[in-house]
Amino acid sequence: MIYYGGDYNPEQWDQQTVAEDIALMQEAGVNLVSVAIFGWSRLEPKDGVYEFGFYRDLLDRLHAAGIDVDLATGTASPPPWLGEMYPETLPVRADGTALTWGSRQQYNPASTKFREKAAELVEELAREFGSHPAVVMWHVSNEYGCHVSESFDPESRERFRLWLQARYGTLEQLNEAWGTQFWSQRYTSWSQVEPPANLPTFHNPIHLARWREFWSDQLLECYLAEKRVLQRVCPDLPVTTNYMGFFPTVDYWKWSPHLDLISNDFYPEPGDPRAGAQFAASSDLMRSLGGGRPFWQMEQTPSTVQWRDRNSPKRPGQFRLWSLGLVARGADAVLQFQWRQSRSGAETYHSGMVPHAGKLSPVWEEMVQTGADLKKLAPVAGHRLRASVAILWDWPSLWAAESAIGPIGWDPLTRVAQWHQSLYDLGFLVDFASPDSDLSGYEVVVVPSLFQVLPGLAEKLAGKTVIVTAGTGYQNGEAQVHLGGYLGPLRDLLGVRVVDLLPVAPTGLATGRITGAVRTRTRVQVRLDGQSYDGDGWAERIQVDQAEVVATFEGLDVDGLPAITRRGSAWYVGSFLDEAGRAALLERVLGSAPGGPQLAELPAGLEVVSRGPFQFLLNHGEDPVQFPVSAGTDLLTGRVARGQVTVGPRDAVVLDLR
Ligand code: GAL
Repeated sequence: MIYYGGDYNPEQWDQQTVAEDIALMQEAGVNLVSVAIFGWSRLEPKDGVYEFGFYRDLLDRLHAAGIDVDLATGTASPPPWLGEMYPETLPVRADGTALTWGSRQQYNPASTKFREKAAELVEELAREFGSHPAVVMWHVSNEYGCHVSESFDPESRERFRLWLQARYGTLEQLNEAWGTQFWSQRYTSWSQVEPPANLPTFHNPIHLARWREFWSDQLLECYLAEKRVLQRVCPDLPVTTNYMGFFPTVDYWKWSPHLDLISNDFYPEPGDPRAGAQFAASSDLMRSLGGGRPFWQMEQTPSTVQWRDRNSPKRPGQFRLWSLGLVARGADAVLQFQWRQSRSGAETYHSGMVPHAGKLSPVWEEMVQTGADLKKLAPVAGHRLRASVAILWDWPSLWAAESAIGPIGWDPLTRVAQWHQSLYDLGFLVDFASPDSDLSGYEVVVVPSLFQVLPGLAEKLAGKTVIVTAGTGYQNGEAQVHLGGYLGPLRDLLGVRVVDLLPVAPTGLATGRITGAVRTRTRVQVRLDGQSYDGDGWAERIQVDQAEVVATFEGLDVDGLPAITRRGSAWYVGSFLDEAGRAALLERVLGSAPGGPQLAELPAGLEVVSRGPFQFLLNHGEDPVQFPVSAGTDLLTGRVARGQVTVGPRDAVVLDLR
C-alpha cells in the first residue's frame, strides 16, 4: 500500500479533538501518522522522569482505528529544563552568543551531554513502545541540521581538533594539505587550530570546507547514537530520519547507508512554474540515495507554508497532482506537515490537512480525494524505476565550491537544478549519482559544475555519453587547484583544458570623452547550430588538445573562441548555458547517443514517468492534453484506455500496462 497521512502533534489539542481527529483521518484515508516529533517535554517533563501515558493511549487508539505510527524519538527540540540544567547542550554562535529555548532545535550536535540525554530518552521510549503494534517505523530526531548545524563552544572546538587529527594523522600533514605556508598560517600545535570564526578577512578555503564536513559528521554521530539504541532494543523496526532534498549542510551520500529507508521533506513554492521540476529533482535524489529503493515523502504541505515572506496556497488540484507525482518517482508514502492546522504557536498559519475552517475549506476536500486516489495506487508500491541518465551531485564538491574565494560566487546547486530541469522538460528520467557511485548502469552522465574532481572519475565516465559543464574540475580534494589547466583528471577524456577564466563583471556606462570611449564586455553568448544562447556572463578559455569545436563564444575579447567541444561522446560546455541553449544541446547530444533514450514528442505540460509496469501521465498545464497509449487501465478511474488518453489540467492518469 501507499502510506498517506502526516505529522500528528496532538500535544496541542484536547481529548475531544483527538477523538475527532481519528475519525477524520479515517474519512481522509489516512493510514499512517508521525507522532512525538516534538514530544520531548511531554515524554520527559523533568530530568529523568518519563511519562508515557499520553502516547500509550494515543497509539492504542490509532491502532484500533487501523492507523500505523511512525514514532519519533522526540529529540529534535529539547525542553527548556535541559538547557537550564545543562547549558553545555546549547549551541553557540561564532560571536559567542548561546542560543536558548523558546523556539526549537536549540541543541549543540557535538555536545556529549546532549547526546547522552537524547540516548537515555530513546532507550526508555524504545523499551516502552518498541513492540507496540501501531509502530512500524522509527523517526529519529527531525531534519538534522535545519536551523542549527554548527556551534562554536569549547567542546565543539576540541572535537574539531580530534576529528582533524584522525583525518590527517600529523599536524605536518595538515599544514601541507592546507597550504598554511601562505599568509603565515602554519600551525605548530594542535591547540592553535581553531574553528573558522571571527577572522579579520578571508578564511583559508579548506579550513571552512573541513569545518562543514566535520559538522555533517557530528550530525551523523547524533543520529547514529540514537539509532544504535533503537537497534539494540528493537532490532526488527526500521529506522529513518527525514532529509531535506539538496540540503547543503549534510552529506546525504555518506549518511544513506545508515538509514533503513530514505525519507524526505520538500516545500517548493507553489507559484513557481519550476516547482514541479524541483519536486521531481528532490524525489529523483531520494530514490538515488536509496540505491533505487522506494522512499517516503515524510513532509510536504497541504497548501500554504508560513515561512516565506508571502505564502501562496497551492492551486486547486496541485496538491493531488504533486502527490501522485511523488508516487510516480518512487515514493511509497505521501505524508504532510501537519495533520491539523495549529491554533497557536509559530506555525499557526502553516496549512494542515484539517484546516482552521475544518471541512468548510476546499483544502479538506482535496485531502480526502487524494487519500482515495492513493489507495487505488496500492499496486504501484514497491516497484522501482529505471533511469539511463545520471547527474553527478556531490556535497564535498559543493562545500569546496562555496568555500572558494573568487572568481565568482559559485552556485553548483543552481547549475545542477538547471540541468535537471532541462532533462525533465525533455522527458528524461534522471538519477543522481555521486562521483563514488557505480555509474555502470547509465548511458548518459551529466556533470554540472563539479568543482572538485578526484582521480578515477574519468575512467568511470569513459565510453559513456558525457556532458561536463563550466566550473568543473578546478580543485582536488584538499582545495588545491589542478595545475596545468582546469578540468584536471578529466582533461584527457574531454580532449580540452581550461586555461583562463573570462567572466563578465558588472559595470556602469560612462559617456565622458575618455570614459565613454572605453569598451567592456557586458555579456557572453554561445553560438550553437546557427543560434545564439546566453552564457550567464561566464566564459572559459578552452585550449583544445584533441577535440572538435561545436560552438563558439560571441562577445568582446572572446569572439570565436571555443565554447562547446566534443571528443567522441564526451562534451564540454565552457559556459552557463541558458534554458534554450541547454535544451538545444541536449537534443543534439542525446538525440544521437547510441542506444540512448529517444526524445518523445510530448505535449506541453505533460510529465510522463514509468514506474514498473505503471505509466504516470501528469498534466501540469492549464489545458487538457492527449497522449498516445497502446492499451492500459487507469488505476484512478478504472477506465480502459486504448489508442489515446486525455489528461485534464492539473490532473493525472495512471495506466496499468500489464
Ligand atoms: C519542516 C519541519 C516541520 C515543519 C515544516 C513546516 O522543516 O520539519 O516540523 O516546521 O517544516 O513547513
